[in-house]
Amino acid sequence: MKWLHKDLLDVSQLSRSEVMAIFETAGRFQELQERPVKKVPTLKGRSVILFFAEPSTRTKTSFDVAGKRLSADTFSLAKSSSSLTKGESLKDTALTLQAMAPDAIVIRHWCSGAARFLADRLECSVINAGDGRHAHPTQALLDAFTLHQEWGDLAGKTVLILGDIAHSRVARSNVILLNKLGARVRICGPRTLLPPAVRTWNAKIFSNLDEAVKGVDAVMCLRLQLERQKQGLLPDLREYARTFGLARRHVDLANQDVRILHPGPLNRGVEISSELADCADSLILDQVSSGVVVRMALLFLYMTRKGEE
Ligand code: CP
Repeated sequence: MKWLHKDLLDVSQLSRSEVMAIFETAGRFQELQERPVKKVPTLKGRSVILFFAEPSTRTKTSFDVAGKRLSADTFSLAKSSSSLTKGESLKDTALTLQAMAPDAIVIRHWCSGAARFLADRLECSVINAGDGRHAHPTQALLDAFTLHQEWGDLAGKTVLILGDIAHSRVARSNVILLNKLGARVRICGPRTLLPPAVRTWNAKIFSNLDEAVKGVDAVMCLRLQLERQKQGLLPDLREYARTFGLARRHVDLANQDVRILHPGPLNRGVEISSELADCADSLILDQVSSGVVVRMALLFLYMTRKGEE
């Protein structure tokens, strides 16, 4: 497929066939993970800057691993070691990075719209690695790829997204992508952690977890993002864990072979019991492995694109 997009800002930009092309490319890179030497020269001579203005373990490391396995040169910039801390604007930081002529910039930023802001100003590809509460397209792609590996077609499957929906860019991107792939989406969380716009999403909303989990094929737990909660939205963490934490009794209400996902990082014993996080039906570490090959596919497609958007 001729890749037409310059930037990846959210999954809403992608057609179903483009998502399938990403999965097909990621699937081809999976074989590389089994080899003793996990490196191919595909992106030799190309460079990608990883600009993370918020903390990250999975996304940043897997983009770094993905780039290096394709022989691209990867360069990391964190907020704490950048001139953002001296008051430099995002625009000037971005133009400075652009002047070093990278082929792509992967950005994580606390402001919704930061990736779009850069994409409108830079000639190189911009890949959104999470912007505020807005979007986390590469996470949604790796989540769907993980389920695709398990099930093949996602059409007709029911996926429950559980927890802190209000602060979650992962939830927003996943609702869009799961719908695009024909899955039915359910949302469950305390009313204080549901955004007002949730009623406009193509998802069935529940406030009772026992009801929400009945007959689902997968549960995607979300991290409670306490760092983004300015006002007290939860009276008590233990109460939250009792009411909305995924436990064995919930899994018994779901379909047989229910799959358990979590984008990480986990608050064990809060949004998910430790036993479930580590159980045989948990795909949490498969999601991390998928993250490497999906990001390899994205770097490959965006950094070798030929078309005009
Ligand atoms: N899921 C996710 O984005 O994890 P990191 O914050 O560790 O990158």
